[in-house]
Amino acid sequence: MNTKVKKFGILCSGGDAPGLNAAIRSLCMTAILQYGMEAYGSFDGYRGLIEGNIRKLEVQDVENLLGAGGTFLGTSRVKPFKNPEPDSVTGLLPVEAIKKNIEKWNLDALVCLGGNGTNSTASLLSKEGINVIGLPKTIDNDIEGTEVTFGFHTAIDIACDSIERIRTTACSHSRIMVVEVMGHKAGWLGLYSAVGSGADVVLLPEIPYDIRKVAEKIKSSGKKYSIVVVAEGAKNLEESRMDKKTFKKSRALMTTSIGGRVAKELEELTGIESRVTVLGYLQRGGIPSAYDRILATMFGSEAAHFLSEGKFGKLVAMRNGKICGIDLSEVEGKVKKVPILHPMVQSAKEMGMYFGD
Ligand code: F6P
Repeated sequence: MNTKVKKFGILCSGGDAPGLNAAIRSLCMTAILQYGMEAYGSFDGYRGLIEGNIRKLEVQDVENLLGAGGTFLGTSRVKPFKNPEPDSVTGLLPVEAIKKNIEKWNLDALVCLGGNGTNSTASLLSKEGINVIGLPKTIDNDIEGTEVTFGFHTAIDIACDSIERIRTTACSHSRIMVVEVMGHKAGWLGLYSAVGSGADVVLLPEIPYDIRKVAEKIKSSGKKYSIVVVAEGAKNLEESRMDKKTFKKSRALMTTSIGGRVAKELEELTGIESRVTVLGYLQRGGIPSAYDRILATMFGSEAAHFLSEGKFGKLVAMRNGKICGIDLSEVEGKVKKVPILHPMVQSAKEMGMYFGD
């Protein structure tokens, strides 16, 4: 088979997400079975590439991974371009070590599975002359240029199922139940979880909230109980005016999570008993949903086609419902946020969901 790539490396970097194993499986199986390529796994993300922790992968290594959670290659948040220190033994900078290992293993290209940080690094590696392809993975759905990332839908399913459980106990006890979801600096997971579970209030990083108005809204609703979804990156009005450094400092001084703070403030302001549930890593762990398995599989096999065609410096992405490739430089250093006029925000507002503004 005519292919531009004979041997390629594959790695996962950043926080894990459901669907990583499905993507590894489809990329390796398509590349090996369809094009006769050789696949090499780098373990624990970019660290494996720097330290040479690399192993050849066969079809048998990956064929049973479709529904498995986590990533069998491991991951890390090692960023080769951030404050690079030379290795104490070899004296090599991380990027030099990566280049050396790529040469040593004879890799024609690299496929990097990850979120914003990973794909920004992939873009920088591409500028260093390495043939790179990125795959969009994150439960946060915050990668610029793609409509969807794998892991996102599983996290929404988990959040919505959890909120359904929280709803019955909220009702029994006539409480305000605050549910904190992940999402980093973007509100996608918060918005979709709130809409999918019919929450009463949702607080997103993109829409600064006024806690007094939230309390008023809940008090005047006359409802027996309330569900408040808080994205981990949500900010009140005061915080939204802070510069990055001041905001970071003020969050570091907080003795509770943002969800815990919102629950405490709401209890004080409304006099209604309030509780918080931080969903945390439950949203990332365990088996991927069928949607994410399929999406990751489609993205993975497209990456194999890109390798064979020599389409490098690209992120495999979804645009207008179609899988395509966009330049990694379009993604580098960016975060895809929820537009405040997003149709889902509008329709939620029309049905009475309150955004705290
Ligand atoms: O980016 C994915 C994510 O799960 C975010 O939603 C969350 O803020 C972060 O990772 C948690 O990171 P860590 O695994 O390093 O604690």
